[in-house]
Amino acid sequence: PLVSSASMLQAARAGGYAVAAFNVHTLEMLQAVVEAANELRSPLIIQSTVGTVKHLGPDYLAAAATVAANRSQIPIALHLDHCTDFELIVRCIRAGYTSVMIDASHSPFEENVRQTAKVVEVARAAGVNVEAELGRVGGVEDDIVVEERDALLADPDECARFVELTGVPTLAPAIGTAHGIYKGDPNIDFDRIGRIASKVAEPLVLHGGSGIPDDQVRRCVALGMAKMNVATELRIVFTDAIKAVFAGNPDENDPRSYMTRAKNALREAAAAKIRLCGSAGKA
Ligand code: 13P
Ligand code: ZN
Ligand code: NA
Repeated sequence: PLVSSASMLQAARAGGYAVAAFNVHTLEMLQAVVEAANELRSPLIIQSTVGTVKHLGPDYLAAAATVAANRSQIPIALHLDHCTDFELIVRCIRAGYTSVMIDASHSPFEENVRQTAKVVEVARAAGVNVEAELGRVGGVEDDIVVEERDALLADPDECARFVELTGVPTLAPAIGTAHGIYKGDPNIDFDRIGRIASKVAEPLVLHGGSGIPDDQVRRCVALGMAKMNVATELRIVFTDAIKAVFAGNPDENDPRSYMTRAKNALREAAAAKIRLCGSAGKA
Protein backbone atom coordinates (compact mmCIF):
# COMPACT_ATOMS: atom_id res chain seq x y z
CA PRO A 1 0.00 0.00 0.00
CA LEU A 2 0.93 3.64 -0.28
CA VAL A 3 2.61 5.05 2.83
CA SER A 4 2.63 8.51 4.35
CA SER A 5 5.60 10.60 3.28
CA ALA A 6 6.24 11.59 6.92
CA SER A 7 8.57 8.83 8.04
CA MET A 8 10.57 8.68 4.79
CA LEU A 9 11.15 12.44 4.98
CA GLN A 10 12.13 12.34 8.65
CA ALA A 11 14.62 9.58 7.85
CA ALA A 12 15.95 11.69 4.98
CA ARG A 13 16.40 14.78 7.14
CA ALA A 14 18.14 12.70 9.81
CA GLY A 15 20.27 10.93 7.23
CA GLY A 16 21.34 14.02 5.29
CA TYR A 17 19.72 13.04 2.00
CA ALA A 18 16.51 13.97 0.19
CA VAL A 19 13.61 12.06 -1.30
CA ALA A 20 12.80 13.05 -4.87
CA ALA A 21 9.16 13.97 -5.51
CA PHE A 22 8.23 13.73 -9.15
CA ASN A 23 5.21 15.37 -10.76
CA VAL A 24 3.54 12.91 -13.12
CA HIS A 25 0.76 13.49 -15.63
CA THR A 26 0.23 10.11 -17.32
CA LEU A 27 0.37 6.44 -16.44
CA GLU A 28 3.66 6.02 -18.28
CA MET A 29 5.22 8.91 -16.36
CA LEU A 30 4.13 7.30 -13.12
CA GLN A 31 5.53 3.93 -14.18
CA ALA A 32 8.81 5.51 -15.24
CA VAL A 33 9.56 7.15 -11.89
CA VAL A 34 8.46 4.01 -10.04
CA GLU A 35 10.81 1.85 -12.11
CA ALA A 36 13.69 4.26 -11.50
CA ALA A 37 13.12 4.25 -7.73
CA ASN A 38 12.81 0.46 -7.63
CA GLU A 39 16.01 -0.03 -9.59
CA LEU A 40 17.85 2.25 -7.18
CA ARG A 41 16.10 0.97 -4.04
CA SER A 42 15.05 4.48 -3.13
CA PRO A 43 11.97 5.77 -1.32
CA LEU A 44 9.73 7.71 -3.70
CA ILE A 45 7.11 10.42 -3.68
CA ILE A 46 4.79 10.51 -6.67
CA GLN A 47 3.01 13.82 -6.85
CA SER A 48 0.32 15.46 -8.90
CA THR A 49 -0.59 19.09 -9.23
CA VAL A 50 -4.16 20.29 -8.88
CA GLY A 51 -4.33 20.57 -12.67
CA THR A 52 -3.40 16.91 -13.09
CA VAL A 53 -5.85 15.82 -10.40
CA LYS A 54 -8.56 17.61 -12.37
CA HIS A 55 -7.26 16.15 -15.65
CA LEU A 56 -7.14 12.49 -14.56
CA GLY A 57 -9.23 12.30 -11.40
CA PRO A 58 -7.81 11.68 -7.91
CA ASP A 59 -9.23 8.15 -7.85
CA TYR A 60 -7.43 7.12 -11.06
CA LEU A 61 -4.18 8.58 -9.75
CA ALA A 62 -4.55 6.92 -6.36
CA ALA A 63 -5.42 3.59 -7.98
CA ALA A 64 -2.38 3.65 -10.27
CA ALA A 65 -0.07 4.74 -7.46
CA THR A 66 -1.48 2.02 -5.19
CA VAL A 67 -0.77 -0.65 -7.80
CA ALA A 68 2.76 0.73 -8.12
CA ALA A 69 3.25 0.60 -4.35
CA ASN A 70 1.86 -2.91 -4.08
CA ARG A 71 4.21 -4.15 -6.78
CA SER A 72 7.24 -2.45 -5.21
CA GLN A 73 9.65 -3.28 -2.41
CA ILE A 74 10.23 0.42 -1.68
CA PRO A 75 8.08 2.91 0.26
CA ILE A 76 5.96 5.04 -2.08
CA ALA A 77 3.83 8.04 -1.09
CA LEU A 78 1.26 9.87 -3.23
CA HIS A 79 1.32 13.62 -2.71
CA LEU A 80 -0.96 16.47 -3.77
CA ASP A 81 1.23 19.37 -4.86
CA HIS A 82 0.45 23.11 -4.30
CA CYS A 83 -3.21 22.96 -3.42
CA THR A 84 -5.04 26.09 -2.33
CA ASP A 85 -8.44 24.41 -2.02
CA PHE A 86 -9.41 22.72 1.25
CA GLU A 87 -12.26 20.76 -0.35
CA LEU A 88 -9.96 19.28 -2.98
CA ILE A 89 -7.47 18.30 -0.28
CA VAL A 90 -10.20 16.41 1.53
CA ARG A 91 -11.26 14.74 -1.73
CA CYS A 92 -7.71 13.59 -2.43
CA ILE A 93 -7.29 12.23 1.09
CA ARG A 94 -10.54 10.30 0.66
CA ALA A 95 -9.28 8.99 -2.69
CA GLY A 96 -6.14 7.60 -1.06
CA TYR A 97 -3.49 10.34 -1.17
CA THR A 98 -1.02 9.87 1.67
CA SER A 99 0.47 13.36 1.62
CA VAL A 100 -0.95 16.80 0.78
CA MET A 101 0.36 20.32 0.37
CA ILE A 102 -1.75 23.24 1.49
CA ASP A 103 -0.33 26.25 -0.28
CA ALA A 104 -1.65 29.35 1.42
CA SER A 105 1.64 31.15 0.85
CA HIS A 106 -0.16 33.93 -1.03
CA SER A 107 -2.14 34.82 2.07
CA PRO A 108 -0.88 36.82 5.04
CA PHE A 109 0.96 34.86 7.76
CA GLU A 110 -2.00 34.50 10.11
CA GLU A 111 -4.28 33.25 7.33
CA ASN A 112 -1.60 30.79 6.16
CA VAL A 113 -1.39 29.53 9.76
CA ARG A 114 -5.18 29.17 9.98
CA GLN A 115 -5.54 27.24 6.71
CA THR A 116 -2.51 25.04 7.36
CA ALA A 117 -3.62 24.16 10.90
CA LYS A 118 -7.03 23.15 9.55
CA VAL A 119 -5.46 20.79 7.01
CA VAL A 120 -3.06 19.38 9.61
CA GLU A 121 -6.05 18.51 11.77
CA VAL A 122 -7.95 16.54 9.10
CA ALA A 123 -4.81 14.95 7.69
CA ARG A 124 -3.55 13.80 11.06
CA ALA A 125 -6.76 11.88 11.64
CA ALA A 126 -6.21 10.09 8.32
CA GLY A 127 -2.51 9.38 8.88
CA VAL A 128 -1.66 11.68 5.97
CA ASN A 129 1.40 13.93 5.87
CA VAL A 130 1.09 17.69 5.30
CA GLU A 131 3.41 20.17 3.63
CA ALA A 132 2.95 23.94 3.75
CA GLU A 133 4.79 26.84 2.14
CA LEU A 134 6.21 29.97 3.69
CA GLY A 135 7.44 32.86 1.61
CA ARG A 136 6.54 32.59 -2.04
CA VAL A 137 8.29 30.39 -4.63
CA GLY A 138 8.62 32.25 -7.94
CA GLY A 139 7.78 30.97 -11.42
CA VAL A 140 4.86 29.06 -12.92
CA GLU A 141 3.34 25.88 -11.51
CA ASP A 142 0.01 25.03 -13.14
CA ASP A 143 -2.19 28.10 -12.65
CA ILE A 144 -0.10 29.47 -9.79
CA VAL A 145 1.99 32.24 -11.33
CA VAL A 146 4.45 34.27 -9.24
CA GLU A 147 6.38 37.05 -10.98
CA GLU A 148 10.02 37.33 -10.00
CA ARG A 149 9.44 40.65 -8.23
CA ASP A 150 6.66 39.05 -6.14
CA ALA A 151 8.69 36.07 -5.02
CA LEU A 152 9.40 36.31 -1.30
CA LEU A 153 12.00 34.51 0.78
CA ALA A 154 10.94 32.83 4.03
CA ASP A 155 12.04 34.38 7.31
CA PRO A 156 13.75 31.85 9.65
CA ASP A 157 12.01 33.06 12.83
CA GLU A 158 8.67 33.05 11.07
CA CYS A 159 9.35 29.49 9.88
CA ALA A 160 9.88 28.35 13.47
CA ARG A 161 6.77 30.17 14.65
CA PHE A 162 4.74 28.78 11.73
CA VAL A 163 5.67 25.17 12.50
CA GLU A 164 4.93 25.70 16.18
CA LEU A 165 1.54 27.33 15.55
CA THR A 166 0.36 24.86 12.89
CA GLY A 167 2.04 21.61 13.90
CA VAL A 168 2.83 21.13 10.21
CA PRO A 169 5.21 18.15 9.85
CA THR A 170 6.92 19.30 6.61
CA LEU A 171 7.84 22.84 5.58
CA ALA A 172 8.62 24.34 2.18
CA PRO A 173 10.38 27.65 2.80
CA ALA A 174 11.02 29.87 -0.21
CA ILE A 175 14.79 30.25 -0.39
CA GLY A 176 15.36 31.57 -3.89
CA THR A 177 14.45 28.71 -6.20
CA ALA A 178 11.66 29.01 -8.77
CA HIS A 179 9.32 26.77 -10.70
CA GLY A 180 10.38 26.09 -14.28
CA ILE A 181 13.76 26.35 -15.94
CA TYR A 182 15.94 29.25 -14.80
CA LYS A 183 17.23 31.95 -17.08
CA GLY A 184 20.79 31.60 -15.88
CA ASP A 185 21.47 30.19 -12.41
CA PRO A 186 18.98 30.23 -9.55
CA ASN A 187 19.72 32.67 -6.77
CA ILE A 188 19.67 30.35 -3.77
CA ASP A 189 20.13 31.84 -0.32
CA PHE A 190 22.14 29.01 1.26
CA ASP A 191 22.78 30.98 4.42
CA ARG A 192 19.03 31.32 4.87
CA ILE A 193 18.50 27.56 4.46
CA GLY A 194 21.05 27.00 7.23
CA ARG A 195 19.34 29.49 9.53
CA ILE A 196 15.91 27.95 8.87
CA ALA A 197 17.24 24.43 9.40
CA SER A 198 18.77 25.46 12.73
CA LYS A 199 15.35 26.56 13.98
CA VAL A 200 13.12 23.95 12.32
CA ALA A 201 13.81 20.27 12.99
CA GLU A 202 11.13 19.09 10.55
CA PRO A 203 12.03 17.99 7.00
CA LEU A 204 12.34 20.95 4.61
CA VAL A 205 11.20 20.88 1.00
CA LEU A 206 13.07 22.24 -1.99
CA HIS A 207 10.67 23.44 -4.68
CA GLY A 208 11.64 24.31 -8.22
CA GLY A 209 14.08 21.41 -8.57
CA SER A 210 14.32 21.65 -12.36
CA GLY A 211 17.37 23.51 -13.57
CA ILE A 212 19.23 23.76 -10.26
CA PRO A 213 22.91 22.88 -10.87
CA ASP A 214 23.83 19.57 -9.23
CA ASP A 215 26.36 21.04 -6.80
CA GLN A 216 23.75 23.51 -5.56
CA VAL A 217 21.19 20.74 -5.04
CA ARG A 218 23.76 18.85 -2.97
CA ARG A 219 24.39 21.94 -0.83
CA CYS A 220 20.66 22.39 -0.24
CA VAL A 221 20.27 18.76 0.76
CA ALA A 222 23.27 18.88 3.08
CA LEU A 223 21.69 21.89 4.78
CA GLY A 224 18.40 20.10 5.55
CA MET A 225 16.29 19.98 2.43
CA ALA A 226 14.79 16.48 2.70
CA LYS A 227 12.42 16.51 -0.30
CA MET A 228 13.13 17.84 -3.76
CA ASN A 229 10.28 18.52 -6.16
CA VAL A 230 10.98 18.03 -9.85
CA ALA A 231 8.37 18.75 -12.50
CA THR A 232 9.40 20.77 -15.54
CA GLU A 233 12.58 18.86 -16.45
CA LEU A 234 10.69 15.57 -16.49
CA ARG A 235 7.96 16.98 -18.69
CA ILE A 236 10.55 18.24 -21.14
CA VAL A 237 12.45 14.95 -21.26
CA PHE A 238 9.23 12.99 -21.76
CA THR A 239 7.90 15.29 -24.47
CA ASP A 240 11.23 15.62 -26.27
CA ALA A 241 11.44 11.84 -26.59
CA ILE A 242 8.00 11.77 -28.20
CA LYS A 243 8.93 14.64 -30.52
CA ALA A 244 12.03 12.72 -31.58
CA VAL A 245 9.93 9.69 -32.48
CA PHE A 246 7.66 11.73 -34.72
CA ALA A 247 10.55 13.67 -36.22
CA GLY A 248 12.04 10.37 -37.34
CA ASN A 249 8.75 8.78 -38.34
CA PRO A 250 5.80 11.17 -38.86
CA ASP A 251 3.55 8.19 -39.59
CA GLU A 252 4.08 6.57 -36.20
CA ASN A 253 0.66 5.87 -34.70
CA ASP A 254 1.20 3.33 -31.95
CA PRO A 255 1.06 4.93 -28.48
CA ARG A 256 2.79 1.86 -27.05
CA SER A 257 5.76 2.61 -29.24
CA TYR A 258 6.22 6.35 -28.67
CA MET A 259 5.13 6.25 -25.05
CA THR A 260 7.68 3.54 -24.33
CA ARG A 261 10.44 5.70 -25.77
CA ALA A 262 9.27 8.58 -23.59
CA LYS A 263 9.01 6.35 -20.55
CA ASN A 264 12.56 5.06 -20.99
CA ALA A 265 13.92 8.58 -21.30
CA LEU A 266 12.03 9.69 -18.23
CA ARG A 267 13.21 6.69 -16.21
CA GLU A 268 16.83 7.69 -16.86
CA ALA A 269 16.17 11.34 -15.96
CA ALA A 270 14.39 10.34 -12.75
CA ALA A 271 17.20 7.95 -11.82
CA ALA A 272 19.71 10.78 -12.17
CA LYS A 273 17.67 12.98 -9.80
CA ILE A 274 17.33 10.15 -7.28
CA ARG A 275 21.10 9.66 -7.28
CA LEU A 276 21.59 13.40 -6.92
CA CYS A 277 19.30 13.43 -3.87
CA GLY A 278 21.40 10.70 -2.25
CA SER A 279 18.41 8.44 -1.59
CA ALA A 280 19.60 5.48 -3.68
CA GLY A 281 19.89 2.40 -1.46
CA LYS A 282 17.89 4.00 1.37
CA ALA A 283 14.71 1.94 0.88
P1 13P B 1 10.20 22.56 -11.24
O1 13P B 1 9.12 22.62 -12.28
O2 13P B 1 11.15 23.71 -11.32
O3 13P B 1 10.89 21.24 -11.24
O4 13P B 1 9.47 22.70 -9.82
C1 13P B 1 8.73 21.63 -9.32
C2 13P B 1 7.97 21.95 -8.09
O5 13P B 1 8.39 22.67 -7.22
C3 13P B 1 6.66 21.31 -7.94
O6 13P B 1 6.02 21.70 -6.77
ZN1 ZN C 1 6.51 23.70 -6.13
NA1 NA D 1 13.04 25.15 -11.32
